[in-house]
Amino acid sequence: MTFVKVCPVAEIPADGVLGAEIGDTQIALVRQGDDVFAVNDICSHAEVNLSEGEIYNGTIECWLHGSCFDLRTGKPTNPPATQPVATYRVKVEDGDVYVALGPAE
Ligand code: FES
Repeated sequence: MTFVKVCPVAEIPADGVLGAEIGDTQIALVRQGDDVFAVNDICSHAEVNLSEGEIYNGTIECWLHGSCFDLRTGKPTNPPATQPVATYRVKVEDGDVYVALGPAE
């Protein structure tokens, strides 16, 4: 499990989202209060960027058809999406956000 430094936490808008990349993987970083979440940035329904959507009640909402994905589980909470998006482990150290893409140990 390797954590990769992505950006200062201050770059993520408060209660908002920032699109970022780790290698070829696009991720959406979400800040909710003191918590930071990372999910795959590509909607499981029609492959648009979730980071262009809104944060709503613990979810990130796809701007195209309105499916919301739980920030903790990646599961869609409403149609049309039926498949989850990947979620990633996040840690914040010294004001910087680190994300691990690999499986949990
Ligand atoms: S593209 Fe995201 S819900 Fe359709």
